[in-house]
Amino acid sequence: MLRRRTARCALLALACATLLAACGTPPGPEPVSDAARAGGSNEHGLARLRNPLEGDAAAIAAGGALFAGRACAGCHGAAGGGGMCPPLVNDAWVYGDDDTTLYHLIREGSMAMRAHGYVRGDAEKVAGDMPPFGGALSEQETWQLIAWIRANHAHAAPTEPATR
Ligand code: HEC
Repeated sequence: MLRRRTARCALLALACATLLAACGTPPGPEPVSDAARAGGSNEHGLARLRNPLEGDAAAIAAGGALFAGRACAGCHGAAGGGGMCPPLVNDAWVYGDDDTTLYHLIREGSMAMRAHGYVRGDAEKVAGDMPPFGGALSEQETWQLIAWIRANHAHAAPTEPATR
């Protein structure tokens, strides 16, 4: 009995390790399209990026649909107003609000940001890490999400009450 439980546990651990290897490992430096390159690199050695879809109405709409459909809303609230995780509509940003930072944070997750040398700001009361989404989003989808976050950020009040 004990042995069977141990075996089951080992299997579970193996499944977890496999899953982590598949989606938990931050991707290495990925090629980014020329349209998104702003030239030079930032203080963390990351190529400076600029959202080529900034302000584009179709991209903002697509980004809103992605936010609702790709689990972002589950943690950040339906309108990005926060919930279990920090709001995306206020002026406090954990690692910074520039396109380079948000692009890498969404694709690689917050542990990778600290590995890049970013320091978690204390402006937001956060208790956890943001998982990497690079395996689930194309570059274009990532920029659509950032376009939506920016457009939504301009709205003074989130439409959804915080659920804490
Ligand atoms: C499992 C919960 C979870 C999911 C799902 C999630 N996030 Fe996050 N996100 C977090 C946490 C936690 C942080 C803060 C990370 C930290 O403090 O290191 C964060 C931070 C952020 C930030 C920076 C916020 C700030 O105020 O600086 C952005 C932007 C962001 N997430 C976008 C997204 C997008 C886009 C998606 C969907 C693709 C998403 N998140 C999915 C948990 C999540």
